[in-house]
Amino acid sequence: MSDFEDDFITTAAAQVYGKSKSIALDIRRGQAVRDVLKQCYNISSDFKSGCLLDIGCGPGIITRILAESFEQSLGLDVSQNLISQAQTIASPRPITFKVGAAESLPVTDSSADVITVVYALHFIQCDQFITECKRVLKPGGIALFHGGVISKVSLSNGPQEIMPDTTPLIKDMNDKLKEIANKLKHPERHLLDCHETLYNDIKWPGKRRIVTTIENVLSLAELRRHYMCIPFVRRLGDGEENPLIKLVESIKRLWSMENVDEEQIEICACYHSVTIILAK
Ligand SMILES: C[S@@+](CC[C@H](N)C(=O)[O-])C[C@H]1O[C@@H](n2cnc3c(N)ncnc32)[C@H](O)[C@@H]1O
Repeated sequence: MSDFEDDFITTAAAQVYGKSKSIALDIRRGQAVRDVLKQCYNISSDFKSGCLLDIGCGPGIITRILAESFEQSLGLDVSQNLISQAQTIASPRPITFKVGAAESLPVTDSSADVITVVYALHFIQCDQFITECKRVLKPGGIALFHGGVISKVSLSNGPQEIMPDTTPLIKDMNDKLKEIANKLKHPERHLLDCHETLYNDIKWPGKRRIVTTIENVLSLAELRRHYMCIPFVRRLGDGEENPLIKLVESIKRLWSMENVDEEQIEICACYHSVTIILAK
């Protein structure tokens, strides 16, 4: 077990994560993965067959969006606490949520049409997991691993053209987070490089990646809350030594909005997103 595995398994961390993350961001992420799936798996919007396996499903919001296209879905996570949260939300399609690890999938050979991993690949022992993907995917099945980093923040409805550009501030935050994650050898370093190192190490003939930009409209307060529920970011405290806090405060200063309620500052946050695709 790595030093950081506890980040999601402990009741306290899982509780904060599941309850405070942004539903708006999760919905957009779920839709983005579904769009990639439609593109490369040739599914139409009324496709409702096959079996989905969503690994590292957390509180299950994204699983529910993906499950709309499948006859049956299984959400797996190592955290009992997050699985319990996932089991409480209603879904229009049949989904089973259960505790399980990516490295030893509790399903039979050739049983999954699609495997998804959203914002979780960096926590998984990739070699063992890839062996499991080969075992459980049906011939013709596909695995999609999705993640990304914030790349741009602008005012969502306002005089955008005259508002100073926040791109250098975002770059500064990403660079600082990468530096800290690299120093700690924290799994988040692999998300901060958009899973590039993990991708290079995956042995799978014909593997490929799709790069997209996902736009999300949310309040600055929601963005702050969403980041602060990530255990790695929360560990860094709530002062400006935490690159996320520094970013939010710097954006407000840059836009001369220090005295405006963050809940009222509606932003468009762009994510540079990468989906790894493995077809069997
Ligand atoms: C950042 S969260 C993402 C949750 C969800 N996919 C989402 O995007 O909302 C990462 C999740 O991976 C789970 N996880 C970590 N290691 C895992 C493993 N080896 N097998 C299955 N799940 C794992 C964690 O418990 C956590 O819920």
